Amino acid sequence: MNILFAVSEATPFAKTGGLADVAGALPTALAERGHQVHLFLPLYQEIKAQEPGLIETASITVPLGEEQVVGTIVSRPSQHPNLSISFVRQDNYFDRPFLYGPTGEEYPDNGIRFIFFCRAILEAVSVLNLDIDIYHAHDWQTALIPVYLKTLYKDLSRYRGGSLFTIHNLGYQGIQDKELMPLAGLDWKYFTFERLEFFDRFNLLKGGLVYADALNTVSQAYSREILQAEFGFGLESVLKERRNDLHGILNGVDYQEWNPADDPFINNHFRLGRMAGKKICKKKLVSAFSLPHESRRPLIGMVSRLVTQKGFDLILPLLKKTDAFEAQFVFLGTGDPEIEEGLTILAKQYPSQIAFIRGYDNRLAHLLEAGADIFLMPSHYEPCGLNQMYSLRYGTVPLVRAVGGLDDSITSFNLENGRGNGFKFDDYTIDALEKTLKEALQLYQKPRLWQKLRQNGMRSDFSWSQSAAKYEELYVKIKGQL
Ligand code: ADP
Ligand code: GLC
Repeated sequence: MNILFAVSEATPFAKTGGLADVAGALPTALAERGHQVHLFLPLYQEIKAQEPGLIETASITVPLGEEQVVGTIVSRPSQHPNLSISFVRQDNYFDRPFLYGPTGEEYPDNGIRFIFFCRAILEAVSVLNLDIDIYHAHDWQTALIPVYLKTLYKDLSRYRGGSLFTIHNLGYQGIQDKELMPLAGLDWKYFTFERLEFFDRFNLLKGGLVYADALNTVSQAYSREILQAEFGFGLESVLKERRNDLHGILNGVDYQEWNPADDPFINNHFRLGRMAGKKICKKKLVSAFSLPHESRRPLIGMVSRLVTQKGFDLILPLLKKTDAFEAQFVFLGTGDPEIEEGLTILAKQYPSQIAFIRGYDNRLAHLLEAGADIFLMPSHYEPCGLNQMYSLRYGTVPLVRAVGGLDDSITSFNLENGRGNGFKFDDYTIDALEKTLKEALQLYQKPRLWQKLRQNGMRSDFSWSQSAAKYEELYVKIKGQL
């Protein structure tokens, strides 16, 4: 099949979160299965700086309201003959220091930027003479692609392919002023409750949910959860309407990038049966965070966007009782200023037990996965979550809340039969988190059981090939229904 993969971030080019990890790995996994994959990304400033050898392949003109905005498509060779990588260049929109805006802020014209991106891709399909079977769009930034295919581009024979819309996070919907409807070239007749209107505004994500031929979320649990008001962010009734077309496919792990046996970001490699390197990684991690080295205490780590989704309204109050825990904590992340401040204050209060590095640092994220004993993910909601799966491979035991992809990938360790790969709690309460953390710290004192638990995790396999096969099945189904 010819698959067009439209996405706003992908490793190794530009990343703010797990979406980039998925878009960096899934296209290659599909290419390996014999499909022809065309990946499209915006040409951000950082990509321009990283990729000097880009070749211009097409010039495009995109109508935005009354204006005609010119852009170019530039490409680079990929690692795989079945994968083409293209970037949409429009410097007014994308030659900026951040993808979506400075930390915690949004560029005010994000709506226009991504309306342009979606239409530019569809125009490029024609100029590049592509014959696409499946248009695969992700999150609000590319949600207009399925909308356009069923409206503006509907009668054009070139655009006969079907569409899949993947929901990575319902918490971000790209809600715009309704005045952007004409700019997007969409008639007011589409501005209804059943279609694009959401509390008198223009909801881009909703467009994807309504118009795509099929939908999926990044875990099965999340595909059920979003039908309820607690997780649906106001779109639960739209999703219920589409429940028969809504699937759940768990993300995979790119073990080329996340493998303690040859991770280029750590110097001391390790694997099952040869774990000495992990101890050295722990030492290095503790010193990278300027904590005193106390090898016998468990080290609990977290790498995360600092947003409420990730459970900081449980973590911050819990850490006020740090005295009660024989453990050290390291946090790496950026995000909400309030959470950043909360962590900064706690680190000052407990200088030998808590450290916080405010920043985005891929190398340190890898070292943290390698050096920590326990990885914390007490999320309020979690569509999939990748760090718990990375942790497993690095012998770092995940402690998670039983929600979304965390629930699908982590099973509680059972002392009796020695099965399970982590710690998991149900209720979103400080007490439940505290109780589970205490259980984990107790088990840590029993080296044999801890070793067993760690081995279970290191043996688990979440490689992309299985998930890619499921995407392929879904593409086939969509194509069959056209
Ligand atoms: P989400 O996409 O909701 O942020 P995921 O668990 O799916 O959550 O993916 C997060 C990804 O972003 C992981 O690869 C994680 O290591 C990375 N990440 C998050 N914050 C940082 C940071 N401050 N520095 C480096 N990597 C980070
Ligand atoms: C989103 C979700 C996260 C998921 C990632 C990749 O950012 O918050 O749970 O793993 O997308 O699908």
